[in-house]
Amino acid sequence: MAAEPVYMGAKFCRTCHSSADNDRYHRWLESRHARSYDVLTGADRADPECLSCHTTGHDQAISERTTRKDLRGVQCEACHGPGSEYKGMRIMKDPVLARENGLWDVTRDVCLSCHR
Ligand code: HEC
Ligand code: HEC
Ligand code: HEC
Ligand code: HEC
Repeated sequence: MAAEPVYMGAKFCRTCHSSADNDRYHRWLESRHARSYDVLTGADRADPECLSCHTTGHDQAISERTTRKDLRGVQCEACHGPGSEYKGMRIMKDPVLARENGLWDVTRDVCLSCHR
């Protein structure tokens, strides 16, 4: 049984997903999802209701190698699942192993969890 996956933050995905031929990281960085925490102002920035859709992994366990601040905005893991257990090269390269270690299929329901 694999360890329970926790959220890491996009900087951990950037290492491998910002190559010139398929730069998922910068494509995401330019999207409104990446900036969705910035649209919150004042007390809303501490309102758990707003944070549940405008940040990543709110109320969920996060790695000790990251912080809540590093999980602001709708990041990779909000759609792909918490990455602590699948982000290693050996597991990432194997679609079956990756899913066994927390990688989600990005179904419609994933979007609908925030886009109601
Ligand atoms: C150590 C390098 C590495 C890291 C770190 C990494 N990935 Fe990957 N990832 C890969 C490789 C290699 C593949 C397989 C080839 C490809 O699709 O680019 C892959 C594939 C994927 C896929 C497609 C998998 C499939 O089977 O559909 C997704 C989605 C993904 N990564 C998301 C992430 C996310 C989110 C993170 C951060 C939590 C992350 N990756 C971190 C190397 C990495
Ligand atoms: C259930 C998920 C959810 C919750 C809870 C939520 N939001 Fe949002 N919010 C969204 C989505 C999804 C959008 C994007 C809508 C679109 O553009 O289609 C959005 C858009 C916004 C926008 C507009 C951003 C722009 O670029 O124009 C603001 C501002 C905003 N929300 C503030 C808040 C505040 C403040 C709260 C807490 C009181 C909150 N939201 C709670 C999901 C949510
Ligand atoms: C709003 C949801 C969402 C976010 C945020 C998101 N993705 Fe994805 N991602 C998807 C969907 C849906 C697909 C499948 C359709 C497609 O390829 O566009 C996908 C496909 C992928 C793939 C496989 C296809 C390919 O190009 O190799 C990788 C790798 C990937 N995403 C990595 C990332 C990384 C890394 C981040 C953050 C920097 C990220 N994604 C952010 C929804 C998202
Ligand atoms: C964790 C919550 C969350 C998830 C999951 C999510 N979104 Fe969003 N999405 C948001 C929020 C919040 C915004 C508003 C960002 C802003 O305007 O600042 C948004 C904005 C958008 C926009 C408007 C951005 C633009 O560039 O026009 C689109 C389109 C969108 N989301 C599609 C999707 C799709 C498709 C998925 C699933 C693959 C998805 N979202 C998953 C929260 C989410």
